[in-house]
Amino acid sequence: MISFIDLQAQYSRIQDEVEQSVLRIMRSGTFILGPEVAKLEERLASYVGVKHCVSCASGTDALVMALMAKGVGPGDAVFTVPFTFMASAEAIATVGATPVFVDIEADTFNIDTGALDRAVKALAAGDRSIHPLPRLSDEQIASLKPRGIIAVDLFGLPADYSAINAIADANDLFVIEDAAQSFGASANNSRAGGLAEIGCTSFFPAKPLGCYGDGGAIFTNDPAFADLLKSIRVHGQGSDKYDNVRLGITGRLDAIQAGVLQVKLDIFDDEMEQRQRVAASYRRAIAASGLDLVAPAVPEHLVSAWAQYTVIAADDAARSEFQSRLSAKGIPTAIYYPKALHVQQAFAYLGYAEGDFPVSEMLGNRVFSLPMHPYLPDTQIDEIVEALKG
Ligand SMILES: Cc1ncc(COP(=O)(O)O)c(C=O)c1O
Repeated sequence: MISFIDLQAQYSRIQDEVEQSVLRIMRSGTFILGPEVAKLEERLASYVGVKHCVSCASGTDALVMALMAKGVGPGDAVFTVPFTFMASAEAIATVGATPVFVDIEADTFNIDTGALDRAVKALAAGDRSIHPLPRLSDEQIASLKPRGIIAVDLFGLPADYSAINAIADANDLFVIEDAAQSFGASANNSRAGGLAEIGCTSFFPAKPLGCYGDGGAIFTNDPAFADLLKSIRVHGQGSDKYDNVRLGITGRLDAIQAGVLQVKLDIFDDEMEQRQRVAASYRRAIAASGLDLVAPAVPEHLVSAWAQYTVIAADDAARSEFQSRLSAKGIPTAIYYPKALHVQQAFAYLGYAEGDFPVSEMLGNRVFSLPMHPYLPDTQIDEIVEALKG
């Protein structure tokens, strides 16, 4: 059987270590934060190559906490992409700010930095002819204060942070790297999570580094910002538990999840190598097949964490045909993301319309993801590509 993501194969490999680790934590009686979480945070910071890691309860909380720590709220605007998981834009709205969408590039699936530059200019000038803006009143648009950018490393591939950080610097904006899908990736040998001022990741089970429940982390080199995040993580805690100096959330990572993640970190480098093998084998097999499918492009200086292996079919009908061919052989596929965020009902209040972000919309009709995990043997990759031929 071919699995889309094979967590069972991974579990068989680490079963003894994980079970011992979880048992040790259960016997210790420390379930919230504590030494296991502190140790994990040290290891994660060192892996990413930043000074501080603040773990938290999910990738979504990581984004929300980072925005709260930046003091983002009503009247603020944050730029992000519409072709991503809901949380990237939802976090902006959760803190009361306004998401301003920017389209992506068709080949990397990541933010189009030319469009980002235009979006920043359009908002500053209140000029919709430069770039699509939320259809709020002219007064509302004029009163929005641009604060930051949430760039997403979609499917595991880092966005173009040299361009993004330059735009941010020129316009006094912060940058959050949504590295929920890219933990383990790198750009010019710098690890994802550390490519911008703030990095946020997710340990959702299906992510490249996943725990056995929900979890996340925030990365920063700024010690004061890390302290702020630690306070927000525990209801704005001040000098002690019942001193609340700001608003916060229950945003902590469970000690048991920290125990699971430590064991998974031990084998993570090897798993990353296996993901590279799987991606290379797909690329070779798809190229040799002559199929009308675009395999994902990885620019020279980047390494993807391959959270997903996403291909592009010629159109919607061709995609359905490929998916049915695979499904007939019991091979699972998934579509990330069939409906872009600017046309989701949750964001209808922003007044965006179909046609505002054509690349996101076009890819929503054409992409599908193939099974991708470190335990996928080359023989199964050949089987999948053979099945695609029908
Ligand atoms: C790009 C992106 N951002 C944020 C998140 C949110 O992470 P979580 O599910 O841990 O809240 C996800 C997870 O699915 C994601 O893929």
